[in-house]
Amino acid sequence: MRAIFCADEKWGIGKNGGLLFSLPLDMKFFRETTKGKIVVMGRKTLDSFPNGAPLKGRVNIVLSTKDPKEGTVGAKNMQELLALLKNYPAEDVFVIGGESVYRALLPYCEEVLVTKVAADGGADTFVPNLDEAEGFQLAKEGEPVLDNGYTLRFCTYRNTAPWEI
Ligand SMILES: NC(=O)c1ccc[n+]([C@@H]2O[C@H](COP(=O)([O-])OP(=O)(O)OC[C@H]3O[C@@H](n4cnc5c(N)ncnc54)[C@H](OP(=O)(O)O)[C@@H]3O)[C@@H](O)[C@H]2O)c1
Repeated sequence: MRAIFCADEKWGIGKNGGLLFSLPLDMKFFRETTKGKIVVMGRKTLDSFPNGAPLKGRVNIVLSTKDPKEGTVGAKNMQELLALLKNYPAEDVFVIGGESVYRALLPYCEEVLVTKVAADGGADTFVPNLDEAEGFQLAKEGEPVLDNGYTLRFCTYRNTAPWEI
């Protein structure tokens, strides 16, 4: 299982229920990486999509204590989610947020794809600093690229001791 997110220089990922920046290049990377795969998210992240609709061309698994929305597969708690995930090849599963779901599932992820933005987006939601998180190592750091006026680096962290699902 992998996680994918875009974080600012303080490891911020969101503000007021939405994203920090509008980044077409990063969006393209996200779309292409998760196309045809299984994406795992929290209910608030689903709500943040246009019309609160699930992402097309992907299996949308949504953690929520409420009933699942049409077009999504619901998991009512972490135990149910982990049981569900056993049905899919780990290499096809991407954790796509938000904060609460990253915090719960990062220990299970073998790899984390991080788009680092060299800016402070004034976030109110954050992920753990992977440079300081136990077991995580920076495996790849891309060259800086410009996206909508922001400097990005596409990076990969590896978890040296992922938990088993
Ligand atoms: N930068 C990025 O790459 C990125 C990616 C994704 C999201 N984000 C941002 O992150 C923010 C949202 O993060 P968030 O932490 O506030 O919300 P979230 O993780 O997306 O969703 C939280 C909700 O998920 C459900 N949930 C979480 N853990 C659960 C559990 N163990 N059992 C049952 N339900 C569970 C609950 O839904 P119910 O209340 O329905 O029970 C909870 O209210 C937004 O600003 C969004 O834009 C950023």
